[in-house]
Amino acid sequence: MRTLIIYYSSGGSTKIMSETLSMHLKADIIGIKDLKNRKGFGNMLMSSINAFRESKTEILPETVDLSAYDIVYVGTPTWANKPSPAIITLIDNCNWRGKDVVLFTTMTRSGGESTLERLEEKIRMRGGRIIEGIMLKTKDKSPEEIINDTETLIEMYDLKMYSGV
Ligand SMILES: Cc1cc2nc3c(=O)[nH]c(=O)nc-3n(C[C@H](O)[C@H](O)[C@H](O)COP(=O)(O)O)c2cc1C
Repeated sequence: MRTLIIYYSSGGSTKIMSETLSMHLKADIIGIKDLKNRKGFGNMLMSSINAFRESKTEILPETVDLSAYDIVYVGTPTWANKPSPAIITLIDNCNWRGKDVVLFTTMTRSGGESTLERLEEKIRMRGGRIIEGIMLKTKDKSPEEIINDTETLIEMYDLKMYSGV
């Protein structure tokens, strides 16, 4: 079973979660870059508005070839109760037909459910099958705590089974 993890991370938390998943599931990993400047208070406000409206953004890479993979993980921070614009854009640029997909999101306190619902809707519309949706709260957590929490989630959701690890 070949597993791929695709993620976007602005502050680093989703990146830590993705790298932990990748290590334990022996998965390839691709970080998506958003070419818009998302730092600073004004840009953060705009980012929330962009996420709320599901505005597209310029990303790198623009698309990912999923054909070699059996299972694809998609991870995003929750922004304004929605997925990040980078992941919204990426989903529209990929071919999800026949893929088993695990979704995950990080958030400080709430909005993860609606983020996962929206991701599920979009990927199912494009022919993918969602097998899990996972949330991780990151508020006041150190990198070590995020790693530990991710390891707990791997056990809780039996994620190694899907990847045959
Ligand atoms: C623009 C923006 C909007 C956010 N909106 C939410 C939200 O609606 N709910 C929430 O719990 N956290 C929200 N957060 C916090 C992030 O989801 C949380 O810190 C996440 O773990 C960040 O992941 P990252 O470090 O990978 O970017 C928001 C953060 C930003 C920058």
